[in-house]
Amino acid sequence: MNKGQLLYEGKAKRLYQTEQDDILFVEYKNSATAFNGEKKAEIDGKGVLNNQITTLIFEKLKTNGIDSHFVERISEHEQLVRKVDIIPIEVVVRNIAAGSLAKRLGVEEGTPLKRTIVEFYYKDDSLGDPFINNDHIDILGIATKEEVEALYKLGLKVNTVLQPIFEEVGVTLVDFKLEFGRDKDGNVLLADEISPDTCRLWDAETKQKLDKDVFRRDLGSLIDVYKIILARLGGK
Ligand code: C5P
Repeated sequence: MNKGQLLYEGKAKRLYQTEQDDILFVEYKNSATAFNGEKKAEIDGKGVLNNQITTLIFEKLKTNGIDSHFVERISEHEQLVRKVDIIPIEVVVRNIAAGSLAKRLGVEEGTPLKRTIVEFYYKDDSLGDPFINNDHIDILGIATKEEVEALYKLGLKVNTVLQPIFEEVGVTLVDFKLEFGRDKDGNVLLADEISPDTCRLWDAETKQKLDKDVFRRDLGSLIDVYKIILARLGGK
């Protein structure tokens, strides 16, 4: 499969056409960004790690009955994925209060939530990805009622699969963000990536942060903690 024209460049990845209409090339970059792009750095090795970790997670989800756009990891930095139209909604699933939820609701970071919750954010950099509800989604016309229901259910399903996988290797899945797209038949399909860039992952015993908060909050080497996650998931 050959890399064709560059279709899209995001903060962490580039998407290229291939000679096959429904398959795209994804290249994982070494860029790290936080606070809607206000904080930026190039971190050698980050792309390779996120490509490996996302691959392992999408494979584990597939084994557990959750399909995604992921087709194959083809090199250190690259994957092939199925082409989808990204739905501009970031689906955030939370088990423990942290980050923006802790701040917005005044709940101490680390407080377990009574139950898992799902939130929607409007994926729009110029607006800073605002928090939105089902009514906002309706008036914006960015997803149907049925699709919103599917996003909610799939968010919880991914959590149900990933929580025990992480728990088994001594990692607490605090929260994470998912993105979805529509395939050529209009079906909702899990897309983007699932990595320490998009999840909060804490060591179950020491509570050490093993995710992008290390970069956001200047807590040490991002590469060192992403390597821990890769190793715990069985990667090399
Ligand atoms: O910042 P906040 O607490 O809302 O983030 C919730 C989860 O979603 C975190 O795991 C964070 O890494 C992820 N997230 C993301 N991309 C965004 C916003 C949040 O991956 N644009």
